[in-house]
Amino acid sequence: MRIDILTLFPEAVQPMMDASILGRAAKKGLIEINCIQIRDFTENRQQQVDDYPYGGGWGCVMMAQPLKSCLDWVTAQAGPRKRRVIYMSPQGARFDQGHARRLVSEYDHLVLVCGHYEGVDERFIEKCCDEELSVGDFVLTGGEIPAMAIADSVCRMVPGVLSDPACYMGESHWDGLLEYPQYTRPETWEGLTVPEVLREGKHHDIGAWRREQQLIRTQARRPDMFAAYEPKTPEEARIIARLTGREKLTYDCRLATEEDIPDLLSITAEASAYMKENGVDQWQDDFPNAAVFRRDIAAGGCWLFTHEGAPAGCAAEYFTPEPDYPAIDGAWRTADDAAYATVHRVAVKAAYRGRGLADEMMQLCEDLALGRGYGSVRVDTHADNMPMQALLARRGYERCGVIKLTDTVEHDPFRVGYEKVF
Ligand SMILES: C[S@@+](CC[C@H](N)C(=O)[O-])C[C@H]1O[C@@H](n2cnc3c(N)ncnc32)[C@H](O)[C@@H]1O
Repeated sequence: MRIDILTLFPEAVQPMMDASILGRAAKKGLIEINCIQIRDFTENRQQQVDDYPYGGGWGCVMMAQPLKSCLDWVTAQAGPRKRRVIYMSPQGARFDQGHARRLVSEYDHLVLVCGHYEGVDERFIEKCCDEELSVGDFVLTGGEIPAMAIADSVCRMVPGVLSDPACYMGESHWDGLLEYPQYTRPETWEGLTVPEVLREGKHHDIGAWRREQQLIRTQARRPDMFAAYEPKTPEEARIIARLTGREKLTYDCRLATEEDIPDLLSITAEASAYMKENGVDQWQDDFPNAAVFRRDIAAGGCWLFTHEGAPAGCAAEYFTPEPDYPAIDGAWRTADDAAYATVHRVAVKAAYRGRGLADEMMQLCEDLALGRGYGSVRVDTHADNMPMQALLARRGYERCGVIKLTDTVEHDPFRVGYEKVF
């Protein structure tokens, strides 16, 4: 992984990137992090990098030319690679572990552009940047701290940087939960003793205690994450049911008809709102709309799930090849001419989240595909849709690559393709 940080303050950033674990990884040749001085690429004698904003207002805006020249130099130096140019911006998508995992798995060259002052000329962002990322809903004086945070979180997942993938796989945010509390010596400190289960050293009990603590902590500190978390084992489901007082419900399901379209839209409207709240840029452009459900119903695979007569969730299944799937940037797990089923529009109403419905819907679609003799099921979802990706991973789907939807009203047409082979 090579990371180039374009900044006006390389002397502040480079030492941090060369320290500790990342510094050692760079010495071993596992990663390369360079800080490039944007000012070196100015074309004026004063080496001016910013100017007053058109239309007036406070502060100065960084000019496009030095940034573009700096970026051109970096890309020429790095040569052809799987590159992503990212502008650090409080207006970007909120960076999280899912973004870090995507960046480390899909690219081997990141260019992180640090703005300063009032920001950067919009034309540079439009013309040269692939995406904008924010480290949170607050404003910093510059993009250097965000760039360091992103570089650090990405690089620690590069194979070999940490001694074992288990080092980061069990941590907070890896699988939708926070980590359990940690203790070290001495056994008693200021009257506080390490929990007995950890001192006894029984591996099974320690594992069970830690999982329970993760769930308790996540519920207390991050109710948003807890609500989105889908249990991975029956034991987790039991703990969640106990913590929430919400037992798993029983659902009825039937093929939807056109009369059900208002109910289907009410389900996906809640899912869209939930994605918006969580910074997922999917289903934000009048999609799925009534026309989409009409097509699903006509294709004979639009399922409506209800609980005591009330709409609870939906899913659509197709048994015909998807036109956009062959051009995947990656590789499906089955051959190009293999028959597969595809599941779309998996959505659950807020009141039924975390109550086993998404699994039940996926199970139905998988059983139907298997029953008809199909060898696999494919699903595509937005790269930021972590609850869906957690559901798919838990059910044995493998991430295959990125597809581009061509027939969509959504402004972000890229999706991650997953496949489960029976
Ligand atoms: C003072 S900020 C500019 C803020 C801009 N005027 C706005 O209101 O959106 C200067 C630079 O700091 C960086 N920055 C500030 N806050 C950030 C955040 N939360 N995440 C990522 N970058 C940020 C960006 O590179 C930005 O260009």
